[in-house]
Amino acid sequence: MTVKQQLIKLLENSRGQYISGQDIASQLQCTRGAIWKAVKSLRSDGYIITAVTNKGYCLEDTNDILNADVIRKLIGTEAESMNIIVHRTIDSTNMELKRLISEGAGPGTIVISNEQQKGRGRSERSFFSPADTGLYLSILLKPDFSFENVSRITTAAAAAAAEAIEEISGKETGIKWVNDIYIDQKKVCGILSEASFSLEDSGISYVITGIGVNVYEPENGFPEDIKNTAAAIFSDRNRAVRNSLAANIISRFIKYYSELETESYIESYKKRLIWKGEKINIISHTGATPAVLVDTDDQCHLIVKYDDGSEGVISSGEISIRSLPQ
Ligand code: BTN
Repeated sequence: MTVKQQLIKLLENSRGQYISGQDIASQLQCTRGAIWKAVKSLRSDGYIITAVTNKGYCLEDTNDILNADVIRKLIGTEAESMNIIVHRTIDSTNMELKRLISEGAGPGTIVISNEQQKGRGRSERSFFSPADTGLYLSILLKPDFSFENVSRITTAAAAAAAEAIEEISGKETGIKWVNDIYIDQKKVCGILSEASFSLEDSGISYVITGIGVNVYEPENGFPEDIKNTAAAIFSDRNRAVRNSLAANIISRFIKYYSELETESYIESYKKRLIWKGEKINIISHTGATPAVLVDTDDQCHLIVKYDDGSEGVISSGEISIRSLPQ
């Protein structure tokens, strides 16, 4: 570990408190000059570190820089089997994982970024991913079960993300079928799972589950095309929750993933399902079909009632509500 990596670990462990240069130098076994160089480098990465004569160095409480060591520590012993990589900016965390797979990355590799330049959403859409306000993370999985079970991964991720957002914010979340997390009728989190299948053994080579969360309101708000439907968990930025949120989502998801066969996430998913009894449009490539949302079944398929009174079960696709601006 470099002096810089050791220093941020030390400062993170005593957030909001001063540690003297002398203490740091003896713990890190380095010179004061090396510490100062590391402090300057951390500051240029965005860390707010105050230096006061006779007191030492202090990492500000509101510092919200994503940090792999902090996330690992918050996850606890389970993180030992994970390879967590944090970027300040990247094209897309899902795309980065695909590149890492070709270099031999294994299950448990997690890529997190502070910003995405080409954040990817469902149905070939983009996912707005500005710097410093969101959390963008992708997890690599190599499941040994059948294709039918792959959809469970995404719904388990939705339940995990919803619970984590609630715990961190104290706000109630809802899940818009199939995997968008809402707060107060607006989307704060989206999930995109991408799978690769092997034709040789008709099995799954890998699944990448990508989760994007709008944590704080972006400085210039949301772009025109999503400003009526998107929102952030917090309207202000006077807090530092992104590392805890990342750790919370990962821990919950990994637990649900290990219990996928028993579908322990279903209850959590179903109780958060929004728009029950509402008039919706079911959107497909052929257009929009009006229906009423009844519920989901135990596989998280959507049960709907069409205008002619018949019932239908939908396993994939998009829905929108008819009473809200789109
Ligand atoms: C959607 O709402 O349409 C899905 C959005 C998924 C966004 C996440 S952010 C992390 C991962 N990387 C991506 O490029 N997309 C997913």
